[in-house]
Amino acid sequence: MAFKSPLNYIGGKQKILPQLLPLFPEKIGTFVDLFAGGANVGINVHAEKVVLNDNLVYLIQMYQAFQNLPTEDIIKHIEERITKFELSMENEAGYKAMRQHYNTEKHPLDLFVLIAYSFNHQIRFNNHHGFNNPFGRNRSSFNRTMRQNLTHFVETLQTKNIALTAHSFEKFDFEALGEDDFVYCDPPYLITTGTYNDGKRGFKGWSEKEERELLQTLDALQARHIRFALSNVLEHKGKKNELLENWLAQNPDFQVHQIKNNYANSNYQTLDRNKNASLEVVITNYRKEKYLPTATLSLF
Ligand SMILES: C[S@@+](CC[C@H](N)C(=O)[O-])C[C@H]1O[C@@H](n2cnc3c(N)ncnc32)[C@H](O)[C@@H]1O
Repeated sequence: MAFKSPLNYIGGKQKILPQLLPLFPEKIGTFVDLFAGGANVGINVHAEKVVLNDNLVYLIQMYQAFQNLPTEDIIKHIEERITKFELSMENEAGYKAMRQHYNTEKHPLDLFVLIAYSFNHQIRFNNHHGFNNPFGRNRSSFNRTMRQNLTHFVETLQTKNIALTAHSFEKFDFEALGEDDFVYCDPPYLITTGTYNDGKRGFKGWSEKEERELLQTLDALQARHIRFALSNVLEHKGKKNELLENWLAQNPDFQVHQIKNNYANSNYQTLDRNKNASLEVVITNYRKEKYLPTATLSLF
């Protein structure tokens, strides 16, 4: 059974793993999770080696700390911080003091402490690379589920063959990859907004420029016969991703699989569909022999 990242990541793929994982090739040498985020996909995939990459360097530094420290030390560090800053679901002043401390010291494990008590457990940075997510009053704390998910996550990072990198996708070293390897891309979606692509994170935002560069990166992988899967939305609240549609029209052999994750898009192809519907898809540059998708789109 798939297990959950301890991070409640916007756009996290935990819920759709049962639809996503069967689309992946059965045998994978190196699996690259190019936009790893909460790492829900990378930690649940079967591959000889997994590379978790994300340009949010503080996130990757936190994963490095998880990988290198004994679980007891990680939990002890978190508990000490909770005691020192008197963190609770009510103590906003304590949360703010903890946030100030993190922004001054940038201790990688303190990022997790902040996430535990922050609004919706989200990660958000400002232009000066300061964590600025507000307090999760009456809702967020380092609770039992989070502790369990963290323990399991740390164990996975330490026991599986997992490498961590913090490059912007276009700087990633694809040269070392070969035909047995696989690149999974779950970028910010051009036509929806997440805190990581609203330009308010102090990191590069996501615009048509990045979208084009990513599609070129995938073209280069295709030319080298390296398999990939790309998650995205083709349509959202009446907006269309025309760049992606044009790219698909130029690549008629690519497979477009529809993801069903709520009632709105399960109705997608009916005439009276909800105007807020999203057409969420996974695009692959290979056909998976044994897998017969129930909803392979034939839009193009
Ligand atoms: C949709 S989230 C990934 C969620 C992930 N699949 C999960 O299940 O938790 C997209 C991620 O892309 C990262 N990102 C944004 N721009 C990037 C870039 N230029 N290069 C690499 N990663 C980037 C963001 O920091 C964010 O973590």
